[in-house]
Amino acid sequence: MNVKVDNICKSFKDKVVLKNTNMFISNASFFGIKGSSGCGKSTLLNIIGLLDKPDSGNLYFDDIAINFKCQSKLAFFRGNKIGFIFQSYNLMPKLTVYENIMLPFMYLDKNKFNSSLFDRLIEIFDIKELLGKQSDVLSGGEKQRVAATRALITSPELVICDEPTGNLDSNNAKYMMELLKEFCKFEKKTIIMVTHSNEYDSFFDDIYVFDEVK
Ligand SMILES: Nc1ncnc2c1ncn2[C@@H]1O[C@H](COP(=O)(O)OP(=O)(O)OP(=O)(O)O)[C@@H](O)[C@H]1O
Ligand SMILES: [Mg+2]
Repeated sequence: MNVKVDNICKSFKDKVVLKNTNMFISNASFFGIKGSSGCGKSTLLNIIGLLDKPDSGNLYFDDIAINFKCQSKLAFFRGNKIGFIFQSYNLMPKLTVYENIMLPFMYLDKNKFNSSLFDRLIEIFDIKELLGKQSDVLSGGEKQRVAATRALITSPELVICDEPTGNLDSNNAKYMMELLKEFCKFEKKTIIMVTHSNEYDSFFDDIYVFDEVK
């Protein structure tokens, strides 16, 4: 899926956060968004992920404008077309790894479950040995690999990641970047990732850098 951000503006009370923001994210690319703390990265990702709406401007998925007034359509997109990976892993601590990965199918059509994708993700994210474990005993790196698998098991056209490496040490962070890149290239999905770091530039196909906060 390609994504176009067209002149999007967003303020909170009198604080202008996004002012005529524009970008184009090509289908099947690994797209980085960088900028200092408070510049509006998460605000923008929340809009692209349809968790918030812009004050003005347009968002296009595959050249079709999103109608932010149509709640049922937004919910359909969020559930079926978009996967989210956050800095905090948001796993259900008392459920096993397998149960966490299967959570999306509590509200999605069970027929959407694709066992060959499951097998590929288990392999890519190297979590076969973890499937029966309770999630709260995992390390941070393991938790994030499980969270990523859960985000991708629905085969979303667009994956949105807000600092997914933020809580990981540098080895695990690099490893996660490699895995996301592999998923992007093999499954031909679009990944948009916010990061503070300049370390990952080489992974990205394209990068948007926010201006310094005034
Ligand atoms: N719901 C909200 N209500 C009021 N202000 C908000 C809200 N969400 C964000 N802001 C403000 O908007 C600005 C941008 O926030 P945002 O979370 O997008 O920054 P960020 O670039 O993601 O920062 P960080 O790198 O620290 O995560 C900040 O000044 C923040 O305080
Ligand atoms: Mg943020």
